[in-house]
Amino acid sequence: MTVDPASKHTTVLLHEVVEWLRPKPGGRYMDGTLGMGGHSLLIMETAGEGAELCGLDRDQEALTLATQRLSGLGDSAHLFHLPFSRFEEALDELGWDEIDGAVLDLGVSSLQLDEADRGFSFIHDGPLDMRMNPETGQSAADLVNTLKHGDLARIIRTYGEDPLAGKIASAILKARDKEEITRTLQLAEIVRLAYPPKMRHTARNHPATRTFQGLRIAVNRETEELNYYLETIVRRLKPGGRVAIISFHSLEDRAVKHSFRDAAKGCKCPSHQIHCTCEGVPELKVLTKKPLIATDEEKNVNPRSRSAKLRVAEKLTPRGEEYE
Ligand SMILES: C[S@@+](CC[C@H](N)C(=O)[O-])C[C@H]1O[C@@H](n2cnc3c(N)ncnc32)[C@H](O)[C@@H]1O
Repeated sequence: MTVDPASKHTTVLLHEVVEWLRPKPGGRYMDGTLGMGGHSLLIMETAGEGAELCGLDRDQEALTLATQRLSGLGDSAHLFHLPFSRFEEALDELGWDEIDGAVLDLGVSSLQLDEADRGFSFIHDGPLDMRMNPETGQSAADLVNTLKHGDLARIIRTYGEDPLAGKIASAILKARDKEEITRTLQLAEIVRLAYPPKMRHTARNHPATRTFQGLRIAVNRETEELNYYLETIVRRLKPGGRVAIISFHSLEDRAVKHSFRDAAKGCKCPSHQIHCTCEGVPELKVLTKKPLIATDEEKNVNPRSRSAKLRVAEKLTPRGEEYE
C-alpha cells in the first residue's frame, strides 16, 4: 500500500517560509528537516527553472516518504540521510560552497508522533524509544533506566519545562527499582501518578506531555544539533542568502534569536570593553525583529502550529553591507 506523505504531516508556516526565502530560478536551497517534504516542494516549485535542493533528514522513514513526494523534481533534488548538524558533508559532496537559502522546521513530524512503534506517544503504547534515527544513540528507555535523579530531573525541567521535575524523577527511580521501564504507557502512568491527584485530571494536556518532550529533546540531542547548525550555517550562505528557522520551544527560539542577533552585531569584543578593538563586521541582517507566528486560521486547522515561531535572517556582504 502506498502512503500519501502529505497526509502524514501538515506543514507549518508553509507560505511564510517561502515568502521570506524568496526562491529564485537557478538558486540552491537546503532543507535540514525534510520531513514529508512540504517546505521543500513549495520552495522548489516557486523557485522554478534550474533551482536545486539539498534535503536532509535523520529519519530514514521520513526520507523515504520525502523521496516519493519530491520525485517530480528529478535530478534537482539531492536527499541525504544525515542530521542537519552534518549539513556541510552534504554540501561538500554536492560541491556547493554556498547556498541561496536554508530552512529548518524543528522537532518531530506527526508521522513520528502518531506511530506507536517509534515510542514518542504517551497515548498509544509502544517501545520507549524516541530516537529519530533508531540506528544510533541511546533510547528514552536507556535514559530513564540509567540516569541519576539529578540528571533526569534536569532534562524534565529544562527541556520539558515541567515544574514538578524533581517529583517525577523520584517516581521514575522508585518505579525502575521494581521493574525496568520499557513501554511508553508504563512511563506515562508513572508520570501521571507523580502529579498531585487534583492535577492528574484537570491538566489541559496529559501530565506526561512535558516529560515526553524533555526526553525526546535529550535523546535526539536537539539542543546540540541546533547550536552547531547556528554556529556553521552563516558561512555557507551566499551574500543575500537567507536562513529561516521554525522552532516550537522557548529554548530553541532563544538560541536562534541570540545567534542571529550576535551575527548582526559585528563587534565581538567583551561587553565590558568601551571601545571596539576587534573590528568585527556584521554577518547577518535580522529580517524578523519579532518571530512570525501562525495565523488564527492556521492554528485552528493545525494545532501543532500554535507554538511555532519563525525567524529569518539574511547574509550580508563581506563588508557587512546589504547585498542589494
Ligand atoms: C517538523 S518535521 C518537518 C516537516 C517538513 N517541514 C514538512 O513540511 O513536511 C521535522 C523533521 O525533521 C527531522 N529532524 C529533526 N531533527 C533533525 C536533525 N537534527 N537532523 C535531521 N533531521 C531532523 C525529523 O526526523 C522530522 O522528519
